[in-house]
Amino acid sequence: MKKIKSALLLSLFTTLCFILLPLTPDAASIPTVKKTLSDVVLFDASLQEKIMTIPPNSVVVVHSEVEGWSNISYENTLGFVKSENINVIDPLFRRVKETGTPIVYEKSLENSTVKGKLPLNSIVEIYLVESSSFAVVRYGNLTGYVLKNNFAMPTEQIRIVKEANGITVRQTASPTGDVVGKLPKDTKVTMLTNLNGWVFVTTKEMSGYVVANGLKIVSPPLATPKPTPNPTPVKKKLVALTFDDGPHQKVTPQILKTLKKYDAKATFFVLGSNAKKYPTILKEVYKAGHEIGNHTYNHADLTKLNKQQVQDEINKSDEAIKAAIGKNSTLFRPPYGASNKDISSQLTVPNILWTIDTLDWKHHNPELTLQNVNIHVKNGSIILMHDIHQTTADALDSVLASLKKQGYELVTVSELLKK
Ligand code: NI
Repeated sequence: MKKIKSALLLSLFTTLCFILLPLTPDAASIPTVKKTLSDVVLFDASLQEKIMTIPPNSVVVVHSEVEGWSNISYENTLGFVKSENINVIDPLFRRVKETGTPIVYEKSLENSTVKGKLPLNSIVEIYLVESSSFAVVRYGNLTGYVLKNNFAMPTEQIRIVKEANGITVRQTASPTGDVVGKLPKDTKVTMLTNLNGWVFVTTKEMSGYVVANGLKIVSPPLATPKPTPNPTPVKKKLVALTFDDGPHQKVTPQILKTLKKYDAKATFFVLGSNAKKYPTILKEVYKAGHEIGNHTYNHADLTKLNKQQVQDEINKSDEAIKAAIGKNSTLFRPPYGASNKDISSQLTVPNILWTIDTLDWKHHNPELTLQNVNIHVKNGSIILMHDIHQTTADALDSVLASLKKQGYELVTVSELLKK
């Protein structure tokens, strides 16, 4: 600084004497660091005599700027360059290592004038000079050259400004540090260090030191905001198709084939008498991942039977099912939907009726079966059909195509009850 001043005094009476003004020490003349855009000529204080040419992408310290001229330091030399030839560069924020000797030199030479020392663990702005073992550093008003090995990467943490009136950001970790600006309440900041009650923070707008107790830890919802482009997926609509009275030698295998085509699972309420007749077909149904329910042995109206007869209908059917698939049935459905409290109390598995009767057993019309499904279907529907009618097998492809198109997932009754 002294050298610049004396140089300038010589040109005091030139028309450029106003350059003096920014050099008077005041808070406004905080040095900045910039970069040369091209070959830049460095002039002496007369602005006439060329000192040297600074190569492109060189880091220079700007002490002041007036009328399109910048008063700069470049490595070991001081002088003036046209402001249009230099540009602002973003600093790196680094922590001053505890193990370092963070001496700030006037020039990029260890025997040059010592301008000051950086506080250990403080966060400073550094600008790397590729060809040099020195970095240009700025800490408040202190700018100069420091050996690169004095710095470490700081750890970053997110904080929120908690003070109602906001917090003051300063150049240095001190209540007398020059004011950079103010951050309003609830501003999210990146915190780089905590130094004796002061923390260094950065935001898009500014960087500097604030008092640590002016910040609070981000609450978890703010720290990990949920991505909004993909909101929570729409809950799947579920439907359970049920087929009663089988298995049937011809129809059941066709139905299995169509279910497989649509990757649909269904529930088969079988008659024990048919399970005994077609155990192989029932095993195929079971192996394909469908659920097997008990529909009595002889399709009896249980409400017309005594307790023992009811028990026999249930047990005999269960035995035939177990003989075919090696497992017990997991559901029960009474023929004709005819049941009462006494019958229910004899069951060891859920008693399942239906919410949609396709009346496929009555009209034998695939079109009407599809229509009945489409009119009544909603999330959670249990649809009644029979795998003993060819017309039901004929309707199934269009029923499944329609349900899939409407976004339904076809699941077993037990799956449906779980959700
Ligand atoms: Ni039935």
